[in-house]
Order: sequence, then structure tokens, then C-alpha cells
Amino acid sequence: MRLPSLRAGDERVRFLRRSAEDPLSHDGPNVIRNLRRSPKKIASLYVYDERGTRLYEQQCKTPEYYLRRVEAQLLRAHAREIVELCGLLPIVELGAGTAEKTGLLLAEYARRGTRCDYYPVDLDTETLLVAAHRLAADFPHLWVHCVGASYREALPMLPAFPRGQLFLFLGSAFGNLENLEIDDLLSHLFRHSAAGDYVLLAADLEKDAASIERAYHDSAGYGAQSTLNMLSHLNRRYGGNFRVEQFGYRSVYDATAKRNEVHIESLTDQTVTLAQLGFTVTFVRSELIEAEVMWKFDPDDLGAMWARAGFTMARRWIDPVFRYGLFLLRRR
Ligand SMILES: C[S@@+](CC[C@H](N)C(=O)[O-])C[C@H]1O[C@@H](n2cnc3c(N)ncnc32)[C@H](O)[C@@H]1O
Repeated sequence: MRLPSLRAGDERVRFLRRSAEDPLSHDGPNVIRNLRRSPKKIASLYVYDERGTRLYEQQCKTPEYYLRRVEAQLLRAHAREIVELCGLLPIVELGAGTAEKTGLLLAEYARRGTRCDYYPVDLDTETLLVAAHRLAADFPHLWVHCVGASYREALPMLPAFPRGQLFLFLGSAFGNLENLEIDDLLSHLFRHSAAGDYVLLAADLEKDAASIERAYHDSAGYGAQSTLNMLSHLNRRYGGNFRVEQFGYRSVYDATAKRNEVHIESLTDQTVTLAQLGFTVTFVRSELIEAEVMWKFDPDDLGAMWARAGFTMARRWIDPVFRYGLFLLRRR
């Protein structure tokens, strides 16, 4: 694990009990099940190993990828108002990743000299730990309780928060969930939260197809590389022999379904073995493997979906040009 050398704040970083081991260590059967389906699929959580996260971060900094830039602008403009509305609650961040933008909210706690307990949740424990140490060094009042787990596993591990909690779901990560995962996560979130808890959600919205397609076809090719890195991730984790150069990246916006769909295309007939799983799979030329979805929501539909799950809209801030929003929801 690439741990930074000891520095200020390290004593305020820890892993929540039971969550420090590799959260994907038992995922092999799901990988096999998904590659036996028709069409075949690789779960999007395989985008994010250490290299995949680095490529995703590079994609986020490209001029075409408006999502990161606009979200940061909205957070910068409204962080104070958000903290005033919610109060200085402990923060649980789902899919924290590098937590690049979280500091914009944490700075509001720091300005008031208030202790903040921060629970970043992510499957990628290496990235989580590096982010935790960086934030603890930046914010002397911050205590970081890392949760290396899936969203679903993490929620029941959290302590009870008598004053309530603020969940963050940034980076449009909610938009990467499949329909069934959305239903499951929302009911799980309702069950493991209390009346009055807040959720701050960042979501990309419906807009012209060209801007969306540009975002996922950045000229530097980081989007494509981060998706194809899923194959390298499977190779490393399961002793696989995917030849990455024999696969292509396909990203298309489906305006009717309101989602961008990313596939990996097999460029030739080929057979791949994941030795550690004792599993072999064949692909035919032009076969598409489902890799990632990115929902582009209608803000009212998004509000209705969360309302059905027991969360009412407290405030929303929408960038009128790029059509990207921050939504503050409150648990009934
Ligand atoms: C789109 S990135 C967003 C990262 C960060 N929140 C941001 O705004 O830049 C999604 C993050 O969620 C994590 N992730 C994806 N699926 C997850 C799951 N089921 N449980 C926990 N973490 C997950 C990934 O490892 C990745 O770090």
C-alpha cells in the first residue's frame, strides 16, 4: 500500500473495525456470473483500482469533462449555505475516492473550529487511505474513520449518530448505479439512517447529446483508458490474460433512456482465462461487454425517486449552462 510517510494528522486516521481488508476479495463468483450472462458484463466497480482511479482523476481534469469542474464550482459557491442548513454533523461520504472536493465542505467546519468526524466509504482502500491522510494533514480538527467496503456493507457498520449525519454522494457516483442497485441502495440508506439525516447528492442532468458524448470522448483518451483498465484490473486480481489491445472502448448516449452507456468491444475472436477463478470465457469479434452506465437525470424525476424512498428535497442548486446539480435531501 502506498502510504505517505508519517506526517501531521496521522494519529487522527483509522480504519473502522472489520473494514480494512480488501472488500473485493470474495467477488470472484460475481465476475464469473456476469461473464456467463448474455450480454456479458463487467461490474463498473472494477474501474477503480489504483491505476483506474488515477486515470479517472486525469479524465476529470480534461476540458471536455465538465462534471468535475461544475460540481466543484457549485460546492465552492454553496458550501457555507449547505453547512448552515445541515448544522455541523458527522459526514459519511459514499464512494469518496480521492475526496478532491470534500475539503470545500470540511473548510466550513474548520472555519468554525469544530471537530468533524468524517467516514469516507470506498471499495478502493488504497485511494481511501491516501485521501484520508491528506485531509487529516490539511484539517487539524478532522478525525477520519475509513470504511473500506461497498456502500451496502458500509451502512450497517457505521456507529449511531445521536445528532444526525450528513451523507455525501458526490462525483455523480449515484448515476453509475443500475436500476436494481438504485432501489437496493435507497432502501438500505433509509433503513440505516434516522429521521432528519441529510444527503447531499451530485447528479448530472439531461442535456444535449453532443456535450455528453464529448465528456466521455476526451481527446487525451483518459476515459477510454480508465474503462479498458477494468481488464487489467481483472488480470491482476484473478490471474487473467486479457490482452487489452484486443479490446476497444465504445461510449454512446441513449437520449431516450437518458443514460450514457459504455461498452468494451472485443476486436477479434478470442479466449480469456482467469486462472485464479479456474474460469475461461470466449468472445467473438465485435461482441460488446457492458461496462458502465451514467444516468442523466431529469431533476424532478430524481426528486420523485428519492421521495418514494423516504427522502424529501430540502434545496437544489443547478448550473443552468452545464445542467449539473447538487441536491440536498432530508430523511423523513
Ligand atoms: C465516480 S467516482 C467518484 C469519486 C469521488 N466521490 C468524486 O467525486 O470524485 C466513484 C467512487 O465510488 C467508488 N465505488 C464505486 N462503487 C462502489 C460501491 N458499490 N461501494 C463503495 N464504493 C464504490 C469507486 O471506487 C470510486 O472511488
